[in-house]
Amino acid sequence: MGAGVLGFDPALLRSIAERVGTPAYVYSANLIRAQYHALHDALKDVPHRICYSVKANGNLGVLKVLRTLGAGADIVSVGELRRALAAGFEAGAIVFSGVGKTAPELDEAIRAGVGYLNIESSAELDAAIAVARRIKRPATLGIRVNPDVATETHPYTKTGEKTAKFGVPYDEVVSVAQRIAAEPLFTLRGLAMHLGSQITDVEPYHRGTVKLLELVTAIRASGIGTIDALDVGGGLGVRYHNEKAPSPKAFAEAVAPPIKQAGLALVCEPGRYLVANAGVLLTRVLYRKHAGGKEFVVVDAGMTDFVRPSHYNAHHDLVPLENGSGPEELVNVVGPICESGDFLALDRKLPAVVPGEILAVLGTGAYGFVMSSTYNQRPRPPEVLVEGDRYYVARQRETLDDLLRGEVLEPTTWYHGGPPAAGGKGTG
Ligand code: LLP
Repeated sequence: MGAGVLGFDPALLRSIAERVGTPAYVYSANLIRAQYHALHDALKDVPHRICYSVKANGNLGVLKVLRTLGAGADIVSVGELRRALAAGFEAGAIVFSGVGKTAPELDEAIRAGVGYLNIESSAELDAAIAVARRIKRPATLGIRVNPDVATETHPYTKTGEKTAKFGVPYDEVVSVAQRIAAEPLFTLRGLAMHLGSQITDVEPYHRGTVKLLELVTAIRASGIGTIDALDVGGGLGVRYHNEKAPSPKAFAEAVAPPIKQAGLALVCEPGRYLVANAGVLLTRVLYRKHAGGKEFVVVDAGMTDFVRPSHYNAHHDLVPLENGSGPEELVNVVGPICESGDFLALDRKLPAVVPGEILAVLGTGAYGFVMSSTYNQRPRPPEVLVEGDRYYVARQRETLDDLLRGEVLEPTTWYHGGPPAAGGKGTG
């Protein structure tokens, strides 16, 4: 059976495909736990909190697994805040980053009492001050710093260089810290960075940490003594195919000693590291076809279900669950969407597969379902959580009726231009 579906029982996957249908996402709770424990152990010499990045996979079942292990959460929207709270995360264990938090989002986050409301610009700080004063509520803040540290990763997922939209520019951080400290409702608790995603070298983490600690020293010297944590962000790379992923130990050695020495707690925000290889996407082969000298394997999962191959040109291994021992051939594995960019793999060597067979797309636990869409009016796939030899449907497959919800054929209310009547803003 080819390379095998690491950590999953192929017979169980086959039975899931039969019962739940395809395409379907399947996550292993035990594989998530193993990743969490490996990182937690590696960081044991420094007080730390692993705040799982909800954007990687926000399924409530997955969140519950991580929350039960003691993880906090890293969020970027009020939608993720609601999800994290629904899964039982304590607000104080939540880090809220994002360059475009709106006033209603700041309002809800402050009322909820999130642990680190990470400010990403001076203008956003103005908005946060206005909200806090209006609702007369205190808040604990962090500053997401743009550390200007380069990384080797896909251009779409680099976030720590000075030309990126993320974080407060390095040379503005001390003055933003002073403005936070001057606001009686606010307490500055941390500095944070996030360098990018799928980072396979730990050296940039070390450089970024050292740069942030220099800011901590300057902030402390200016009389602000409330910083208790340094958040080194997420981004820890994983092995999808043949990448060299850093070990948790190497990561810990790069960041923990200087943070410990500064008397701070370490916060990190891994998403992909915790869940990517704990998930597979099951898809069924629909047809074979030969065209223009190419062999096509048409499957029932497309870019709407899993966009990483077409969006980032990402390589995800494909493993046939059944006859996978046939002779290898070079194929394009494509989905049913009306776009030529709709593929799971191009020019890929695979054991010969026939219609009806199930393929597991590996490494799809992170940025899989959460980036799915309903383009071409395709309901999004279900999500299944495996616990040992049992599983449950953690999210039902969307239905065609779901896709029509909220639309009207015969309008009941018509609006004219001009300002909305009082209280009418946001209608719809
Ligand atoms: N913290 C912040 C502030 C982030 O923006 C992100 C991811 C993370 C933590 C978690 O990063 P991770 O540990 O998962 O690398 N859709 C892309 C990845 C985008 C990541 C966005 N930010 C992909 O499929 O590769």
